[in-house]
Amino acid sequence: MAFDVDRVRAAYPALADGYAYLDGAAGTQLPGTVIDAMAGAYRVGLGNSGGAFPASRRSDMITAECRRSVADLTGGRAEGVILGPNMTTLTYRLARTLATGWGPGDEVVVTRLDHDANVRPWVQAAARAGAGVRFADVQLPEGDLPLAQLAELISDRTRLVAVSAASNLIGTRPDVAGITALAHAAGALSYVDGVHATPRGPVDVAGLGADFYVTSAYKWCGPHVGAVVADPGLLETLAPDKLAPAPQQVPDRFEQGTLPFADLAGVTAAVEHLASLAGPGPGTRRERILAGMAAAEAHEQGLFRVLLGGLDAMDHVTTYGKAARRTATAYFTVAGRTPREVAEHLAARKVNVWDGDNYAWELAGAFGLRDSGGAVRAGLVHYNNRSDVDRLLAAVAELAG
Ligand SMILES: Cc1ncc(COP(=O)(O)O)c(C=O)c1O
Repeated sequence: MAFDVDRVRAAYPALADGYAYLDGAAGTQLPGTVIDAMAGAYRVGLGNSGGAFPASRRSDMITAECRRSVADLTGGRAEGVILGPNMTTLTYRLARTLATGWGPGDEVVVTRLDHDANVRPWVQAAARAGAGVRFADVQLPEGDLPLAQLAELISDRTRLVAVSAASNLIGTRPDVAGITALAHAAGALSYVDGVHATPRGPVDVAGLGADFYVTSAYKWCGPHVGAVVADPGLLETLAPDKLAPAPQQVPDRFEQGTLPFADLAGVTAAVEHLASLAGPGPGTRRERILAGMAAAEAHEQGLFRVLLGGLDAMDHVTTYGKAARRTATAYFTVAGRTPREVAEHLAARKVNVWDGDNYAWELAGAFGLRDSGGAVRAGLVHYNNRSDVDRLLAAVAELAG
């Protein structure tokens, strides 16, 4: 079935403002159903968790349904879904927990492709534990993460390998399954950053070999909620910091304080929206999600060929990253203009893009862009259309000469 982008766009109230939202890699707009689900949860009445009265039971049901939704989205198990404020906070918590078992002689492997939220928490936790850190470099100019290099870095000293399923800067999709296989063969755990990858194609945590897969709902049309998906059996072996009276069971013991119940209702509505992207169809919610995300990915990749082809055809534009497998995420500079000037020029023409390093700090450094304001990022998600791309290209073309 052809991807009906007009039908999809009509679900998003914010898109009516006439802007081309090419800033989705930093955060997406919300469908009306998600906004309604959150408002509806508050209207009906919520209580704190674990009480004897209906409003409390509603909150617990919302939490349970949210875990099932994230499990359906990622192919994981609901009993292994840890909910929290965002990816960065959850990763710091997991790093602190996992590092209690590390010491001198142990190593963690991180990459210069990753967002800093999947680098610094591990570097800092390793330093506190007296463990070492090995960095995997990005092959330039392609922006690939060669498996052979990971094979050299991962050894029987490795306790954890942290890698991104897709770069938020240049879109590279490394061979995560190959990397996690190397980690497992060495007896190490894998921590896969799925924040950029989750909204850009079907996800299967088992296929990726991810011991931990982390995602953020505000990148896939939901509210500001993060989630870690892990095997509940693995979580049983870990002892995070927790309050004495807080639940001891998994995954609850990894969740500090009270969850944002109305937001969790929004997460479930966002997953339902992703399940509807390919249009109405038979099958389980997981099957509809896989169909919806595959259709969305094909739509984005088709537009991306136009976007990248258009940018590469302009003499005054330099694009960064050429990985064979990548998301529809372009990173570019314009001769004679700072990235902020380009972003301002585009904003004046109602085109939203990001400028800077987008926290892919190591990668911006590897490209030599860290100290010059980074570059401009224009990324596509399922609600972008040909008009968004054409407007971007026309506005960038004005900057020639
Ligand atoms: C690839 C990637 N990882 C991690 C993060 C951090 O996510 P959060 O804002 O949920 O902490 C981002 C945010 O932009 C990201 O793009």
